[in-house]
Amino acid sequence: MLSSVEYQGKIAKVNIDFSWNNDFNIIFDILSQRFNGFNDNGFYPHPDEVVLRQELKEVSTLRRLAERIGALNVNGLVLHNLGLRDLPEERRNAVLYALTLMLGYPTSTDQRTGRVAWDVKARPASDSDGRFVTFSERVGSADMHTDSSFYPMPEEQFILYVVNAAQCDGGHSILIDADDVYAALQRTPEGAAAFELLRTTPVPFRVPAVYAAGDDNLEIHVAPVFGPPVRAGDRFTMRWRYDAIKKGLAARPDMGSPALEDAVEIMHRVAEREATRFMEQLPTDTLMLADNHRMLHGRTTYTDERRHLIRIRMSEVPNAQRIGPSGVVRD
Ligand SMILES: [Fe+2]
Repeated sequence: MLSSVEYQGKIAKVNIDFSWNNDFNIIFDILSQRFNGFNDNGFYPHPDEVVLRQELKEVSTLRRLAERIGALNVNGLVLHNLGLRDLPEERRNAVLYALTLMLGYPTSTDQRTGRVAWDVKARPASDSDGRFVTFSERVGSADMHTDSSFYPMPEEQFILYVVNAAQCDGGHSILIDADDVYAALQRTPEGAAAFELLRTTPVPFRVPAVYAAGDDNLEIHVAPVFGPPVRAGDRFTMRWRYDAIKKGLAARPDMGSPALEDAVEIMHRVAEREATRFMEQLPTDTLMLADNHRMLHGRTTYTDERRHLIRIRMSEVPNAQRIGPSGVVRD
């Protein structure tokens, strides 16, 4: 089912080695019966998602694929040739929704529309209505970060599916594992001290103005960059978004100190340059799955405006049990 597994640290690269046969139709039929419209093909967190997941387990390729992915026990996975490249949008997104529901509980990326499937692609300037354009809506690079860092419950996982790879030299997807962040910080005494400070001192993450009620409405979430581990064998879980912390510290100088500001700069250098990283231009029809608590992600700059990915974030707990907003459109 999965062949030529190749590891780079805690990231696995595999080829899909099976045929979906009639299962696309079965998935589509199940979702058609359950959903009252596909929300412009973006879907939404289904109110009966726990029951719906059980129904989808009857689809053998979906169930087996989810089991194989779980058994790999990695923090990042790149699946080549998923087999969705010729499907129309509604069928492709239906399969992606079904697959992500087997791996977690997909959350709304956009609070306004409730969409689960988010198109990561450049938006024409005239479309943006003068509002702030986020990483996922523009060409260019994205600093290394974790998603939803400024909310109480960042989703545990996300997928990116490549509809259209960039036909230029850029647009590489980058992942850095928590162990590599740790190793890079431990190389110097200053780095080790920065790690200890960012593990023990909560920092203010500022919610970007575009998601808060308005520019004057300052919203802050306070949390350590390196939080307590939740899984055996882990050192910590991560939240990281350099610009959100810089803005948080600017808004709440009482929470900062010269040592903390130095620690944030050291971590920024580690994330952007020093830590060992996975970096690849993902081809069309590739699915990337990443652990949002144990991996930083980002991308290199690109210029091809036809580059098109779909991003879905998944929580380990059903949406009904989640606290606070979910991650929003940001990359
Ligand atoms: Fe992101």
